[in-house]
Amino acid sequence: MSNSRCYLEINRNNFRHNVIGLQKILPAQTKILGIIKANYYGHGDLEMAEIMQQQGVNDFSVATLREAVSLRQRGLKGSLLVLGYVDRNDWLKAHIYDVIMTIASFDQIAEMTQLAKEKGVRFAVEVKVDTGMHRIGIDPHLPDDQLAMIYDNPNLQVIGTYSHLCRADSFAPEDVEFTHKQKDLYDQFLQRLKDKGYASGRTHLCASPGILNYPEFVYDFVRPGFMLLGFTVGEVRERYQRKPVMAWYSKVEMVKTLEADEGISYGHIYRTDRQRKIASLTVGYGDGYPRRLSNKGHVVINGVKVPIVGRICMDQMMVDVSDVDCKREDVATLFGEGYSVDELARDSETIVDEIVCDINERVERIYL
Ligand SMILES: Cc1ncc(COP(=O)(O)O)c(C=O)c1O
Repeated sequence: MSNSRCYLEINRNNFRHNVIGLQKILPAQTKILGIIKANYYGHGDLEMAEIMQQQGVNDFSVATLREAVSLRQRGLKGSLLVLGYVDRNDWLKAHIYDVIMTIASFDQIAEMTQLAKEKGVRFAVEVKVDTGMHRIGIDPHLPDDQLAMIYDNPNLQVIGTYSHLCRADSFAPEDVEFTHKQKDLYDQFLQRLKDKGYASGRTHLCASPGILNYPEFVYDFVRPGFMLLGFTVGEVRERYQRKPVMAWYSKVEMVKTLEADEGISYGHIYRTDRQRKIASLTVGYGDGYPRRLSNKGHVVINGVKVPIVGRICMDQMMVDVSDVDCKREDVATLFGEGYSVDELARDSETIVDEIVCDINERVERIYL
């Protein structure tokens, strides 16, 4: 129990359990590249990385250079890959902070080479290959001369070649077929490199859905994000028992009794049908709680699931506690025991990733 009005409990042991569980099911030659972007989906990037490091994981990845530099400044050791865009004015900064950049399109190459020559450096890069997601990545069928400009370039140090599956979290036959097509395209590209005598560097294809649903896709690394946090996105086969890592709590600030036909919160979109006991909770959309759960979502108070009534405000929201023994300073579980984050995401018509990424800075993180 915390003094905070709104706080997250993050269970280190459950996270460690999930990491060890993954290590046990991976083939001997496959290592973990920890995806710790977006503050590791709100769980704490460095805190989670440290636990992974204790388990022998030394390779990490984030989405932005800002995240990478912040991690380096806070002392993260090990390899660190940026998956997304890095502005050309920041390429040297990436080099200084020992950060690997992703080559997301061929257009980058000429300028990167030029800058590397001018500054007398070799940029560490990984090549992203677009095998069908059509988000970022080079065309695997790019001409031989362009291939040479990437893989036979003294100004670039190619650390790896990777791709990303976009339909691996569905067992629908057309999705399974497409996923195999992506893998085949990736393999063919790796073979093309081999035939030309180019080194691909480290290889990796699977994020959590690929790891869980396609264990036969074996490469040097896997890129787990959500699976180590114990929640689920899409359809996945459970290959070991994963434990939830995060639970979210707020407090009961006051309890009042309202007579029939009283409106609650902005706009009075909820009105009492009879005398009701209402609790005001210390959480709102200013903490990242989804406002779309107004009049729709639930929380758990003293073991009972109770409905949110009226519009969610920036810093408070109200719940109907007519049938619960409830008083000021009681704890309300926003997700955790009795109401999982998976259920909350379903009720919000979104994925858990979005829920946990939206929980913002002012919510205290307590590491158990
Ligand atoms: C390229 C890449 N790899 C790995 C991941 C981790 O994904 P997941 O959380 O599904 O494991 C992401 C997340 O979006 C990603 O963009």
